[in-house]
Order: sequence, then C-alpha cells, then structure tokens
Amino acid sequence: MPEMPSRFGDRGQARVVRPRWPVGIRLCRDMRVALIGLGNAGSHIHLPALASITTASVVGACDPDGARRDHVAATYRVPVFPDAGTMLSRCRPDIVVIGTPPDSHADYCIRALDAAAHVICEKPFVSSLAEADAVLDAAQRADRGVAVNHEFREMPIFRAIRDEIARPDAPDLLFLQMWQLIDMAPSAEAHWRGQMAQRTLFEAGVHLVDFAMALFGERPASVQATTCGERGPATDAVVVVTLEFSRGRLAQLTQNRLYKGETQYFEARADTTSASLRASFGGRARASAGLYRSTRPHMRFEYGRSGLAWRDVNGRRTILARNPKDPTVAATRLVFEAAIEAFRTGGEPSTSGRRARAVLEVIAACYHSASTGCRLRLDDPVMQTLTAWRMGAARAPEGAEVD
Ligand SMILES: NC(=O)c1ccc[n+]([C@@H]2O[C@H](COP(=O)([O-])OP(=O)(O)OC[C@H]3O[C@@H](n4cnc5c(N)ncnc54)[C@H](O)[C@@H]3O)[C@@H](O)[C@H]2O)c1
Repeated sequence: MPEMPSRFGDRGQARVVRPRWPVGIRLCRDMRVALIGLGNAGSHIHLPALASITTASVVGACDPDGARRDHVAATYRVPVFPDAGTMLSRCRPDIVVIGTPPDSHADYCIRALDAAAHVICEKPFVSSLAEADAVLDAAQRADRGVAVNHEFREMPIFRAIRDEIARPDAPDLLFLQMWQLIDMAPSAEAHWRGQMAQRTLFEAGVHLVDFAMALFGERPASVQATTCGERGPATDAVVVVTLEFSRGRLAQLTQNRLYKGETQYFEARADTTSASLRASFGGRARASAGLYRSTRPHMRFEYGRSGLAWRDVNGRRTILARNPKDPTVAATRLVFEAAIEAFRTGGEPSTSGRRARAVLEVIAACYHSASTGCRLRLDDPVMQTLTAWRMGAARAPEGAEVD
C-alpha cells in the first residue's frame, strides 16, 4: 500500500538511533523523541510511557535540576542536557515532549516547533488563549503538529463511558456529574503549584473539563462557576461549575481540595435516557449486601485495581471496564501513540492543541463567571477580552488582600 503523503514533510521516516537505549528496548524506531522537564511527569509518566512505544526512540532529555538529570541518565540511559537549546540543536528530535510547569509551556512549544519538531505538551496546554494562538500559529508556520496530554479520556474506565455514549444506538446523554475530592489545600502545595493563585480548575480540573467535552463531543454553549478558597473566592480551593451543552444538556463539576474524607480523584456519572454510567478512578474493592435504598435485596462484590466503570439500570450493575496498573502511564502511552500516528500521517491528534485551546477557553470562561457571579455564554463578546488573561497567575504575597 502506498504511504500517505505527510503534511509534515519526510523527517518522520525511520532512522538509525545510537545504541544507548536500555537493553531490551528496540533500536530502530520511527520517531526521535526528546523531553523537556524531568520531574514527576517526565520521569514517572513520559519516560515509562515512551519505553513501551515501538514507533519512537528517546534521543535526549533536559532539566535544569542536576539530580533529576542524573536519575534519568542512570535509569533510562538517555543523553541528558541542562538546557533545551543545547538538546534541540544536538539531538534534532522529531518530537519534543514538554513536562515543565505550565507557565513555561508556550515558550518551549514555540522553541520546539521552530526547531522543526512536533510537540506533545503536558496539560494545562498553556497559560492563556493568546499563548495558545501563538503556539498554534508557530505550528502552522513550521508545518508541525501539537498534541496535549489529556490522557484521562483514554483510560479504560473513561474510554468505556465514551464508547457507550458513542454507540450508534446509544440513548442521549442528558446529564454528566464529575467530582474530585481531595485533602490538598492550595496553601499546602509545594513549589510552582503552591504559587498559583488559581490552580484547582486550571491545573487539576482541566482533565474533568476535557472529559466532559470529549463525552458531549462539543464545546458547551455557556458556563456558570463559583469558587471559594482559604483566602477568599479568588483562590479556588473549591470549584462548582455548570456547563450547558446543546439541547439544554448539562454537566456539573465539583472540586473540593479541602476535603477531609477519603480521596476521590476523578469520579464521573453520565446519565442517559436509559442508563446511568459510572467511572470511579482509583483502587476499588468492595463487598456489599442488603436493601440499602432499594427494595430488592442484593449481594455485590466489585474490584478494580486502579478504577472501575459500570452501567446501572434500575439497580442492576454491569461492569464495563477496569483500569490497569499505572493507568496514567498506560493512558499517556495511548495519547502518545495516537499523536505519533497523527504526526506521521498529517492527521489531527484527538487531543490536539486546537482542542486543548477549546478546553482552556471553557476554563477561562469559568473563572470569569466566578468573578462576576454571572452565567457566561461562550459566544459573548466579553470572551474576546479574556484572550490575554493568564490563568494560574502567581498568588499574591502572604498578607496581601485577595478579592
Ligand atoms: N497528565 C498528567 O496526569 C500530569 C501529571 C502530573 C503533572 N502533569 C503536568 O506536567 C507538568 C509538570 O508537572 P510535574 O508534576 O512533573 O512538576 P515537577 O515540579 O515535578 O517537575 C517539573 C520539572 O521541570 C523543571 N523545570 C522547572 N522550570 C523549568 C524551566 N523553566 N525550564 C525547564 N525545566 C524546568 C524542574 O526542574 C522539574 O524537574 C505540569 O504542567 C503538570 O500539570 C500532568
């Protein structure tokens, strides 16, 4: 079969890779990948995910932190560099994976694209809609692709809900609830996370907003949001959002980072006209018996090592999917593989920069709605004024007044 012409030129063809990769990992792969940022995401998500992708080879990695470089060099035996400029010029990667704090994403995306590489960037894509536009313009100029690691939508439990809704005979999705309850007060966060004024929806809730948009298959028409925090409403430790989709269908998102109960990192319930679909992220092993809020006696045992999805119809439960061990790594691998294939063929990745911009647009609208107390339509002219606004901007110094 003839190869599809690539929109991205012919830099994505197979090439010889230096034999420095750990024993057991294939040497001849299609795409040369380099990483910027070797913290939690780079070391514990990106590198393990890339290690199992047979169409890519890691040719370099950089981080200003020497201990992190040493750890990656020793564990993965990849060439490491203290700065991105040196790495880009020495390694000439086909793809750059960015895993640095969000306020540096736009700059690194543009530098990688200017070096003729495709980009896979961590969420949240960038800090403002203007930055997103600058990155997408740079991608168009360079004729390269951009994908963002919105991996939760690819986890088996969330994928199972999407597949149920996408079936040709599926009933209409009417209402989606998502919640995140965790004891991680913004003031207790370390490093760059602790310095963000608005982190909860922007940095953690981005996965929930992306999932809602993937499930409904569209951008909401309007949003209404309320936030409150330890130091006033502008710091968003608690977030309550309503997204209104076409035909009046609703999604509701609750995040509470001050929750003292058991962590529930990402729970979702999608109600259709004929079933209630549930995804619960995190290990789950439960045995229950009784008549609890039901007229029919039941005995149930359920187990999901890292998460479970099920369908409920009138109290009858059918398991739809279980998450594997390391679901974040497994789902990131799927995002990366799909992005690599899209870069190779010239298609649009399902988690493209364009779609990630749409997710950020919704988040910007939510913060604006929270600041005015009003519901905001996404076609309202006020949206134009939000383009340059930087989300997650630095928190005011201790003792300063916060609105
Ligand atoms: N998709 C997911 O599930 C997921 C999970 C965790 C983190 N993330 C995202 O990954 C990104 C990084 O988060 P993390 O938890 O790895 O943070 P981290 O603090 O653990 O690591 C960040 C790394 O970037 C380096 N760094 C900081 N500033 C830099 C700069 N200007 N240039 C180059 N390197 C720089 C640091 O030295 C550090 O090693 C964030 O955007 C975060 O939201 C995504």
